[in-house]
Amino acid sequence: MAEVTLPRPLSETDDRGRFDCGRESLNHWFLRHAWANHAAGISRTNVICDAATAEIIGYVTLSAAQVERAFLPKSQQRNKPDPVPATLLGQLAIHKDHQGKGHARSLLLFALRAALRASREIGSFGVITHPLDDSVRAFYCQCGKSGGGEGEGHMAARSRAREPHPFNTHCVIGQ
Ligand SMILES: CC(C)(COP(=O)(O)OP(=O)(O)OC[C@H]1O[C@@H](n2cnc3c(N)ncnc32)[C@H](O)[C@@H]1OP(=O)(O)O)[C@@H](O)C(=O)NCCC(=O)NCCS
Repeated sequence: MAEVTLPRPLSETDDRGRFDCGRESLNHWFLRHAWANHAAGISRTNVICDAATAEIIGYVTLSAAQVERAFLPKSQQRNKPDPVPATLLGQLAIHKDHQGKGHARSLLLFALRAALRASREIGSFGVITHPLDDSVRAFYCQCGKSGGGEGEGHMAARSRAREPHPFNTHCVIGQ
């Protein structure tokens, strides 16, 4: 298995053109928009790379967001503003030649820790994501989240101040 670097911020000179996670929409976004959004502060992308070749193995993107209070579990809705400040995990993808080796799980943990750190300075109730399909929803659930609710929508992990697992593993699929 290739030695993989620790996550680091995307740079302009990274070769995004060779990245292929097998999902065209995520390849396209990464190639066309990841750097511009990163540079403009709209979203922040971190990458992991092959330590020998510098090839990008995976990326994850975080940005500020809001979630409608109604998407939270009933027990969490009281005494909250509407919408509720949150952090969006917008994209998470691994090159197809490197999938199934635990890289996505590692990047997800990195992103959750980064979101928790940021939430100590700028309030964020938790991390939300928008699973593209049932397979992606299954991936997030497999990575320590329990599904709930019906239909299309979001998943959310509520932030928690307890280490080493900073985020509650409860997830919400919006009604
Ligand atoms: C989904 C994706 C990120 C998973 O990457 P990966 O590196 O293969 O995942 P990992 O090896 O870290 O797997 C972590 C766990 O999730 C499970 N898993 C991975 N893909 C899964 C899937 N499609 N459905 C259910 N579980 C899945 C693995 O079995 C593993 O569980 P285990 O440790 O208990 O065996 C990757 O397939 C990918 O990049 N897909 C294309 C882009 C995409 O759809 N991204 C979705 C988020 S926007």
